[in-house]
Amino acid sequence: MENIAILVLAAGLGKRLGGKSPKVLSSLGGFPLLQHVLRTAAALAPSTTIVITGFGRDAVEAAARTGQSTGFYALPKLAFVFQQEQLGTGDAVKSALSELQTFSGTVVILSGDVPLLRTETLNRLLQEHHSQRATLSLLTFKCAAPNPYGVIIRDASGRFVEQIVEKKDCSPEQSRIEEVNGGVYAVDSAFLVPAIKNLTNNNAQKEYYLTDIVAKAAAEGQRVVAVLADDHQELLGVNTFMELAEVKRIMLNREIAILIENGVEFADPASVYVDSGVKVAAGVKIGPNVQLRGRTEIHAGAVIEGSALLIDTVVHEGAVIKFAVRSEQAVIGKQAAVGPFANLRPETVLGEEVRIGNFVETKKAILGKGAKASHLTYLGDAEIGADSNIGAGTITCNYDGIQKQKTKIGKGVFVGSDTCLVAPIEIADGAYIGAGSVITKPVPADSLAFTRPPQVVKEGWAKKKRR
Ligand code: UD1
Ligand code: MG
Repeated sequence: MENIAILVLAAGLGKRLGGKSPKVLSSLGGFPLLQHVLRTAAALAPSTTIVITGFGRDAVEAAARTGQSTGFYALPKLAFVFQQEQLGTGDAVKSALSELQTFSGTVVILSGDVPLLRTETLNRLLQEHHSQRATLSLLTFKCAAPNPYGVIIRDASGRFVEQIVEKKDCSPEQSRIEEVNGGVYAVDSAFLVPAIKNLTNNNAQKEYYLTDIVAKAAAEGQRVVAVLADDHQELLGVNTFMELAEVKRIMLNREIAILIENGVEFADPASVYVDSGVKVAAGVKIGPNVQLRGRTEIHAGAVIEGSALLIDTVVHEGAVIKFAVRSEQAVIGKQAAVGPFANLRPETVLGEEVRIGNFVETKKAILGKGAKASHLTYLGDAEIGADSNIGAGTITCNYDGIQKQKTKIGKGVFVGSDTCLVAPIEIADGAYIGAGSVITKPVPADSLAFTRPPQVVKEGWAKKKRR
């Protein structure tokens, strides 16, 4: 198999994106730009992938590694080099040459700020690179002037590239050329290493331009091939907030299109937001105004009525998420029903056929099969056994002002309405709690507990008062 090394340029600050955190960590579909680029890279099965860091080095390295550890991509070898000063894209590649010393093959250079590139297009670049026996090949696209990209100067035949001229160095005629550089290259390592060493910064930006290796190759009589991308969107670079917004919209449309093709049914796809790592099974129905974020999974037969925000939530087979549910780091069991108007907070685990109704909040709550909390309830730091019924207005008083305490409720327990369960507390299997109770002591199995004050009735009292 072909020997490929990948270089990812990721050292820049991104002045036009606020300049506070590294540009390649800008979020797109719930993942940093860099992780999208590395996911595309991984599909080429490169022998090594080298990320060139600079600004925000530690954060950029951590982000690249997180993509590996979470399985967003699997790169055989991931290495990092540090570019001391951001002196340009050519200088960035120079800082990676030490890692390429023993490498012989094709070096694929990717920009960390070009996140929509697809593996199919990269493969096309590599195919052309080999079939045309080029020394250097690059992806180009058509973009109406004015635009910020480097322009492609082809030779008289139009077949090969002679030069790339950065916008700031263009003559007025050159800046009208619509074919521009996508910042994605395939280069023979034997050419790249000496070419990079000889770059100069004699240009408008006083930067070492990677793009200057094109003129160098052409001058040596080597072939430089430009592969025009079918879809210009894939090569959009993220340099400004406007471009970031545009790329986000395109990515979202792609994700939704993939889900629709896979058999997910949306009532109004334009109103739905889906992050890139989300999984939805065929046949799932999704209503309007739904956001699926992070590592959310929706399994077969589930229905999401609409207006839901699900973050890192797993919805198992046949579950129904009714109108207006927010859920984060929760697991919703098979055939369970949640909402309308429910708030599932982190570490909520609902078993099969659990019912969570309106105005119910859960946090670190584990509910066994068939348990129900249908109205106006707070369940925090709680374990609730199968088939227990939690009455309207029940509150687990889990916080004593200093620490969180646990509530344990057994199987088949009936908790009457408007009950406070003052944790730590245990209610054993089959117990009954009378409505309006404040329970502070353990309740044994199959017993009745209540703390209700006795009812007083004074006949005729009201009538007398009115007189
Ligand atoms: C670059 C190309 C331009 C092309 C465009 C496509 C050059 C000189 N120009 O311009 O022809 O049309 O991409 O998107 O290459 N970076 C470093 N170290 C540096 C400078 C940049 O790692 O010293 C990284 C940046 O973080 C970014 C990438 O390289 O990920 C591209 O740099 P950027 O400044 O965005 O270059 P462009 O002006 O977009
Ligand atoms: Mg750029």
